[in-house]
Amino acid sequence: MKAVICTRYGSPEVLQLQEIAKPVPNSHQILVKIVATAVNSGDVRVRSLDVNGFMRIIMRLALGISKPRKPILGTVFSGVVEKVGKNVSKFNVGDRVFGMTGFTFGTYAEYIAVHQNSNVIEMPNNATYEEAAAIVFGGQTAIHFLDKAGIAGRPNPKVLVIGATGSVGTAAIQLAKHHHADITAVCSAEGIGLVKSLGVTNIMRYDSADHTRQTDKFDIIFDAVGKTRKNEWKHLLNKNGVYKSVRTGYASETIQQLMLLKELFENGKYKAVIGKTFSMDEVVEAHRYVDTGRKKGNAVLRISE
Ligand SMILES: NC(=O)c1ccc[n+]([C@@H]2O[C@H](COP(=O)([O-])OP(=O)(O)OC[C@H]3O[C@@H](n4cnc5c(N)ncnc54)[C@H](OP(=O)(O)O)[C@@H]3O)[C@@H](O)[C@H]2O)c1
Repeated sequence: MKAVICTRYGSPEVLQLQEIAKPVPNSHQILVKIVATAVNSGDVRVRSLDVNGFMRIIMRLALGISKPRKPILGTVFSGVVEKVGKNVSKFNVGDRVFGMTGFTFGTYAEYIAVHQNSNVIEMPNNATYEEAAAIVFGGQTAIHFLDKAGIAGRPNPKVLVIGATGSVGTAAIQLAKHHHADITAVCSAEGIGLVKSLGVTNIMRYDSADHTRQTDKFDIIFDAVGKTRKNEWKHLLNKNGVYKSVRTGYASETIQQLMLLKELFENGKYKAVIGKTFSMDEVVEAHRYVDTGRKKGNAVLRISE
C-alpha cells in the first residue's frame, strides 16, 4: 500500500510517499481502507518537532529520538471497512467509519488496522468522507476543553473563542452554539466571513482591536489557538468565569466525542469547515499550508478516490 513516511524531523520535505506492506488485522481488529484524513496542527508539530527547551527532550523520548518511531503520521481517518477479524462483532465489511488514533498515528496511508473497541464508529450518514475526516480533530479537542470549562452546567453562557477560524476554533463555535452560548469570536480581518458563516456576529479583530478596552465579560474564555495567556484576558472574566487554553493539558480522546460529533452532524447542527483539500501526493504542500498557522478550518488529505 502507499503511505506517507516521515523520514526524520524537519521541514515538510521530510515526508515521502512510499510503498509498504498492507496491515493484516488481528482477530479483534478491522481493516479500514482510508478514503480521507486531515493534516492537523498536531501532525506538523510532530513532523517539525516544533517545541522548545525541556519539552523538546520529552517529545523526542516519547515520539522517537531522531525521527518518529511511528513513521506514518496522521491521527484521523474516514473510510470503508474492508476486512474484519474473526472476533469482531461491532463492524461489518462495507461499513463507512471514521475515527481517531491519537498517539498511535498511522492515518496517512491507504489502510489501517484498528481494534474494534478503539475510537472508531460509523460515519455520520449524511457526511462525505472528507467531511467526516475534517470534523474529528478540532471537534474532539473543542469538546474536551469546553467540557473542562463546565459549559454544560452554565445556562446560556457568554463564551469568547480566541482563534475562532482554525480547526479547534470553528469547532468550538459550533459546540458552544449547541450549548446555547452567546459567542464572541476573535479572528483577523481574513476570518470574518468564515466566523459569520458559522452564525457569530460579535467579532473582535485580533489584528486591530485592543481587547484591553473591551468591557463585555464572559463566563468562558477559550483560547483555541494557544497564542495568549490568562493574564491578558482575565479582566474580561465574569465572577466564576474560566479561561481555558489549548496550551495547557492534553485533550484526551473518547468514543463519546465521536458520537456527539456524529449526532450533531446528522442533525445539521455541525458542519465540516474545510479550508483546502489535497491529494495524497500533495502531502508536502498540505503540510506547508498548515505550517503557516493561518489555515481556515481543516486541511483534508484525500487518500483514495
Ligand atoms: N492540548 C491539546 O491536546 C491540543 C489538541 C489539539 C490542538 N492543540 C493546539 O491547538 C492549537 C490550534 O489548533 P488548530 O488545529 O485549530 O490550529 P490551526 O487550524 O492551524 O489555527 C489556524 C487559525 O488560527 C488563527 N490565528 C492564528 N493566530 C491567531 C491569533 N493570534 N489570534 C486569533 N486567531 C489566530 C488563524 O487565523 P488568521 O489566519 O486569520 O490569523 C487560523 O485561521 C495548535 O497550537 C495545536 O497544537 C492542542
